[in-house]
Amino acid sequence: MKDKLIIFDTTLRDGEQSPGASMTRDEKLKLAKALEKMKVDIIEAGFPIASPGDFEAVKAVAEAVTDSTVCGLARTSDKDIDCAAEALKPARSARIHTFIATSSIHMEKKLRMTPDEVVDHAVKAVQRARRYTDNVEFSPEDAGRSEIDFLCRIIEAVIKAGARTVNIPDTVGYAIPHLFGETIRQIIERVPNSDQAVFSVHCHNDLGLAVANSLAAVLNGARQVECTINGLGERAGNAALEEIVMAVRTRQDTFPCDTTLDTTEIVHCSRLVSNITGFPVQPNKAIVGANAFAHEAGIHQDGVIKSRETYEIMRAQDVGWQTNRLVLGKHSGRNAFKTRLKELGLEFRNEEELNEGFKRFKELADKKHEIFDEDLQALIADSPRDQEQDRIRFLSMKVVSETGEVPHAIVTLAIDGEERQGSARGDGPVDAVIKAIEGLVESKSRMLLYSVNSITGGTDSQGEVTVRLDMDGQVINGRGADTDIIAASARAYINALNRAWSPKAGRAHPQQV
Ligand code: KIV
Ligand code: ZN
Repeated sequence: MKDKLIIFDTTLRDGEQSPGASMTRDEKLKLAKALEKMKVDIIEAGFPIASPGDFEAVKAVAEAVTDSTVCGLARTSDKDIDCAAEALKPARSARIHTFIATSSIHMEKKLRMTPDEVVDHAVKAVQRARRYTDNVEFSPEDAGRSEIDFLCRIIEAVIKAGARTVNIPDTVGYAIPHLFGETIRQIIERVPNSDQAVFSVHCHNDLGLAVANSLAAVLNGARQVECTINGLGERAGNAALEEIVMAVRTRQDTFPCDTTLDTTEIVHCSRLVSNITGFPVQPNKAIVGANAFAHEAGIHQDGVIKSRETYEIMRAQDVGWQTNRLVLGKHSGRNAFKTRLKELGLEFRNEEELNEGFKRFKELADKKHEIFDEDLQALIADSPRDQEQDRIRFLSMKVVSETGEVPHAIVTLAIDGEERQGSARGDGPVDAVIKAIEGLVESKSRMLLYSVNSITGGTDSQGEVTVRLDMDGQVINGRGADTDIIAASARAYINALNRAWSPKAGRAHPQQV
């Protein structure tokens, strides 16, 4: 029988460290449940000592998830380990993941510690974590640039101290596949007690090699891969879960192991991450991009019609793309609506939410006759239950755009419950609407990114707008969807402002300071 390849998802921790990708506790919970449904083995839910919000989110995930192991990150200090253990207390299966840097540059310049001190800290941290759980993981941070002799020394020591998973991170994305694979092989060969631990890798994508490096490690003995949905993560991101899992599954002729993931949940998880973070998935992204299974060239289309395998190495359905994507329409009933959402893994908490969702579905179906899964996902992502604490609500707008005239917008918002109206002129209708909103809220934010994606095909498609704002140095994303892309732009802008000013984000509205 083949070995199992353990999938350790760190979207909620490393993924969330991506600028602008911060998630609320409820968003983390929603994603954790989706990862559990996909049968991810380990969910790294956060870094509990980092902030009270992180602590609460890890605790909430530990309470809610029963089938996957829930992991919390900790540096080697006692307070980090104790804090992670406390947050993980409710978990049915918990793992503490502790780390310390081992490259010369990090030890000298960042930690200002000698190698002996680093080993001592690592061993003590593992021993302390073992007081709380048998399931302890150790990472020598920046292993990709660490001396192999020192890596072997510290790894032997932490395994002796009780670490049962040893993760080799390429923290700065410096590794090259054949060399990284060789490093993993040598470590496993040279560390005398390596048989007592599972070896793992955690690769960053600075050179676009995170997936290739992870796979090279798997071919050389690693049996856990740390990865994120859509490759979200620090800087250029982490290895993309969907690419690792499908490479291993598709090339079983080469890999001596396989995952136990339910791959049909991949597209759903990808959309959820994109909706929550506001980071769109590029159309040509492997596995989860809109074009990943689309054949444009006539010769390819002809081949696929004759025999799918001529140009397809995977089945779209196996990663969760629907063959029949038209799901509902204007005449669909409440039950069909509820059933389809359930199939997509989206459930309402109570009848009231279902009724409200169904009302919005009918409104959308009036504007757009064919409702696709993507529309339903966007509808739920914009659900008012996620907006309960929003201080700004979009009520209506009027936009005049005429050839030869300067576009003009009038926007009505509810700000802290009070109805306010503003107007502005702009370079285009979107610019006019954003300026009208800005005139009312005075956020003084700077727009770093504005992008529009059509959620489905056709000119009646909903437009999904993503904005990224810089507010006093804090990067905030917002998203909004509507059949009218000007309204979607207004919603996205307001969504970003609400995220920045939510009580959870701990920032005050500028008009209050
Ligand atoms: O990239 C890294 O080194 C990490 C560690 C904490 C595992 O994220
Ligand atoms: Zn990382």
